[in-house]
Amino acid sequence: MNDSRDNPVGTASQEALQHAETALWRMCSFFDAPIADLDAAIAADPGWMLPHVMRASFLLTLTEPSLLADARAALEQADLLAANAPERERAHWAAASRCASGDWHGACAAWEQILLDHPRDLYALQWAHLFDFYRGDARNLRGRVARVLPEWPADDPLRPYLLGMHAFGLEECGHYAQAEAVGREAASGDAKVPWATHAVAHVMEMQGRYAEGQAWLRGQRPRWAEGNGFAGHLWWHLALFHLEAMDLDGALQLHDAHQGSAHAVLTLQRLDGAALLWRLRLLGADVGARWADLAQGWDLTPRDAGHSAFNDAHALMALVGTGDAAAAQALLAAVQRRAERGSESNAAMAREVGLPLMRALLAFDAGDAATAIALLAPLRDTAHRFGGSHAQRDLIDLTLLAACSLPGGQRALGCALLNERVMARGETPQVDHWRRQLGLAARA
Ligand SMILES: [Fe+2]
Repeated sequence: MNDSRDNPVGTASQEALQHAETALWRMCSFFDAPIADLDAAIAADPGWMLPHVMRASFLLTLTEPSLLADARAALEQADLLAANAPERERAHWAAASRCASGDWHGACAAWEQILLDHPRDLYALQWAHLFDFYRGDARNLRGRVARVLPEWPADDPLRPYLLGMHAFGLEECGHYAQAEAVGREAASGDAKVPWATHAVAHVMEMQGRYAEGQAWLRGQRPRWAEGNGFAGHLWWHLALFHLEAMDLDGALQLHDAHQGSAHAVLTLQRLDGAALLWRLRLLGADVGARWADLAQGWDLTPRDAGHSAFNDAHALMALVGTGDAAAAQALLAAVQRRAERGSESNAAMAREVGLPLMRALLAFDAGDAATAIALLAPLRDTAHRFGGSHAQRDLIDLTLLAACSLPGGQRALGCALLNERVMARGETPQVDHWRRQLGLAARA
């Protein structure tokens, strides 16, 4: 049997396939987790390998160390069913296994191989796209989608999700006009595509269009705000638009309503809270007890350090924010130990970006502007290697601007960074703020 995109599947059960299709839609749209649908697919056809691999791959995309054991158990279950599975499903098992072993680059290469044979395999594309994001691979965020997009019929009901991915890849490659057009197209139909809404918000963020950005996200709210696992990140983007307007109270209100321990379940959600509070701190806001609240329920111990260099850097921000210097140093040491001995993708990501960034954040917190600047300035050219988006990694530039503004900072570097920022974003209230912090004359 084939699915509706002509991919061979190892089940003869229409019921099982339908549950898997629903699970796939949930993974692409972020409306509820797909686990119950996958359990239903397994119940409908206990001999089908793919739902077990889907379960593993989905859990891996959450970058949560505590879910690794579940992912590996699902892969073991899948392996027991491999003898009767089509080659494509065994290839998915191999890709997910590489991912589970920490070889994120190898996993993406394996998903790409599946896409060469099955360009409408949305499983492979969805998971590779997310790991392109986690690896900061802008070229493939755009290119991997572009290599299959012409193979999709215009009326495929899941095509808007592909367009959403394409829009985000275009944005991360700096093709803002095309990204906005494709994102708006994907977000305008009947399908709810939060990833497309998000791509357009990224364009507006990179171009300093803070008023438009607020209006866009608020206008799109029916498409992302309720019952969606990605909503926290879009609230974060909305808060960034408030920060660009120097509306710190507005950003704090969004944090209180949508971030923090009451709203975050996963590290992926908590790290947005940490990034927002860090930016608020850089801009001079008093965030009060919010750091302590954010840390509630977040495992900030060094136990799982090294699984994601990006997540570790944000965990360090939370520890610095709560004033727990000893725990921050312990986390740094644990990440360093794993990075030195490990061969996983994240060992290199930590060595190249994560560790110097963590040391820079600690230096900045201690008021050591010279050390913070010496560590942060070179990271501007390499930080994409530890994943995330340009908007997320802008935290590095903002911390550098703040360090340049400190006593012992570098006004000339700060001025140059601000010039670069104005050329990309235009004049914004936040640009004015940094100009004042650097002691530069206001622009007419
Ligand atoms: Fe984003």
